[in-house]
Amino acid sequence: MALQWYPGHMNKAKNQVQDRLKVVDIVLEIVDARLPYSSRNPVLEQIINQKKHIIILNKADLADPKLTEDWKLNFKQEGTASIESDAKHNKLQKLNTMIRSELSEKIAKYERNGVKNYQIKAMCVGIPNVGKSTILNKMVGKNVAVTGNKPGVTKNQNWLKTNYGIDLLDTPGILWPKITDPKVGMKLALSGAIKDKIYPPDDVAIYALNFLLTNYLDRVVSFYNLEKADIYNHTTAELLMHLTKQFGYKEDYDRAARKVIMDVRNLKFGRLTFDVPGEFYEE
Ligand code: G4P
Repeated sequence: MALQWYPGHMNKAKNQVQDRLKVVDIVLEIVDARLPYSSRNPVLEQIINQKKHIIILNKADLADPKLTEDWKLNFKQEGTASIESDAKHNKLQKLNTMIRSELSEKIAKYERNGVKNYQIKAMCVGIPNVGKSTILNKMVGKNVAVTGNKPGVTKNQNWLKTNYGIDLLDTPGILWPKITDPKVGMKLALSGAIKDKIYPPDDVAIYALNFLLTNYLDRVVSFYNLEKADIYNHTTAELLMHLTKQFGYKEDYDRAARKVIMDVRNLKFGRLTFDVPGEFYEE
């Protein structure tokens, strides 16, 4: 497969999203709560203009709760509403309230002009795998009714009725991740947001081990039953070799690397967030 952030791909995605932006009142930008910076696509900010916008920190059940709070505060300070969600397991009622609150002026204006029950139109956007379809399905529930090809509605644009009196465009806008910073690539690979074959597993595992040793030392020491000497007297690459033997994988470093990556994804070190507010702004 070609690299996902191929410029042609990116432009096509940008144009598709831009077209659909015109017909909605609000954009629900879905990001991975473990990567609130790295799983955003900067293109959206360029094309969103004056559109109302909520950032949904999805997969919050996998992220460090303290850092999720920090990120919500960070977005608030930037003037953007944000909300956490675990769309896989929970309902999205708070999102409905937030959408209405963000659009309260517009709704009031319509009401002053005699339009009652203004039908809000929204769309989900985000990079692949952040949970767009899961959120869309949760919002739509059993309301499979589709409204499309009606007068005033662009052809081939289908709308789904949600449980909350909000119409949602039936296909989410896909924005491809833009990876100019290798650190961002490593984080996307580690969380599973991009395909595993894009980066060598040992690079991703070494990135993961470095991240864990720096930020969650006790958790990695305890889960892998390490001695402090295993860490302080060795490079991270040597630590991966040590773990390979410890796992009983002889010299199969790739297999050990894949295990380390899966241990991170399967919460063996607890809920982790790989982006910290502020860390990117210095570059
Ligand atoms: P996309 O449309 O943005 O590409 O993402 P999609 O909804 O297909 O979700 C991608 C994966 O993320 C799915 O897992 C989905 O179940 C999972 N997911 C979505 N939201 C959440 C969440 O809030 N928390 C957690 N933990 N997972 C979430 P999958 O492995 O592809 O499928 P499945 O095994 O869950 O069925």
